[in-house]
Amino acid sequence: MAHAPNSTLKQDDVLTVLGLESSCDETAASVLRRYSDGRVELLSNIVASQDDEHRPFGGVVPEIAARAHMRKIEPIIAKALKTSGQSWDQIDGIAATAGPGLIGGVITGLMGAKGLAMALGKPLIAVNHLEGHALSPRLTENCPFPYLLLLVSGGHSQLLSVIGLGDYERLGSTVDDAAGEAFDKTAKVMDLGFPGGPQVQNWAARGNPTAVKLPRPMKGRDHADFSFAGLKTAVARAWDASDKSDTAKADLAASFQRAMTDTMLDRVEKAMTLYRRKTRETDQARLVVAGGVAANAELRAGLKALAESRAFDFIAPPLKFCGDNAAMIALAGAERLAAGFIDGYDAPARPRWPLDGDAAAAAPKSGFGKKGPKS
Ligand code: KG4
Ligand code: ZN
Repeated sequence: MAHAPNSTLKQDDVLTVLGLESSCDETAASVLRRYSDGRVELLSNIVASQDDEHRPFGGVVPEIAARAHMRKIEPIIAKALKTSGQSWDQIDGIAATAGPGLIGGVITGLMGAKGLAMALGKPLIAVNHLEGHALSPRLTENCPFPYLLLLVSGGHSQLLSVIGLGDYERLGSTVDDAAGEAFDKTAKVMDLGFPGGPQVQNWAARGNPTAVKLPRPMKGRDHADFSFAGLKTAVARAWDASDKSDTAKADLAASFQRAMTDTMLDRVEKAMTLYRRKTRETDQARLVVAGGVAANAELRAGLKALAESRAFDFIAPPLKFCGDNAAMIALAGAERLAAGFIDGYDAPARPRWPLDGDAAAAAPKSGFGKKGPKS
């Protein structure tokens, strides 16, 4: 993959970028304008969810997702362009998620972007989906580098120091399940419906968070890694032993959500200490939460209180930018384009692509083996 600085682009360019996202179960396209001072104007943001297609299976089915992306990507691109009021001439670059994610979907979006970029003679930007989430607060807030990021989604749970564009240092990771995966599996065990996170949150609102005693994995440990597998198993056991009434459902959902929140807050607090050691004392510290699980109201409230108590500013993107969307991919593309980074038309689709590549290869937390670190 060619990743060469492009000398024809100036730092002060106003850039209009089309972004595509198709790495999981949302087919999305967005047109975004970025000004040299970092201001962002979102001209369109179209997301087609595949929830209805996956609901009967209680989870995302890769083959169904790939076919749905193929069906939806073209009309979604056309709609994003039309809504933006721009013509192809006014688009300066085409960005697409190139990984990590379900490979069928990633290939669909990336190939679409390559076709457009080649036909129009525009630069291609192959975006890491996780970088999209990492930059998502910058869609709506003045959020300068560096910041501490809690990235929690269906496929990933990480604590990262976001030092600059393309410059990420991992402070902690999950050693087993992702946070969203734990929410989804819990919802499946209790038959709450799909997608799991919002369903758990709805049921939890009616339950007692202290009703069921559940573990807080890794709590108090002297590092910032997560583990959720034990919690998920404890929920399954508690559910088996319950009377399966609506009250039992609500109490277990609330107890699980409280255990997840407590666990994540403990890990974030540890990461704050690690982060402070590495940044200058004069810098105002910022904590950012991103990814689908960042939509969880109890987690957001807990993080806000923790940030206040540790003198961190707290930034959480609006709900529509927490889950997968193409605006964050267009923004990552625009920031890369402004910095002069573009990719060759041979850029590969990557099912596995850690944000902090070298460190992840040296010390993988998940996805060991021939294929390399997953994240
Ligand atoms: O970032 P995202 O849209 O896709 C991935 O890249 O994985 O995250 C989806 C995940 C799912 O696991 C979903 O259950 C979870 O985010 N999620 C939530 C909530 N809304 C979505 N988890 C907890 N509470 C929520 N309100
Ligand atoms: Zn995501």
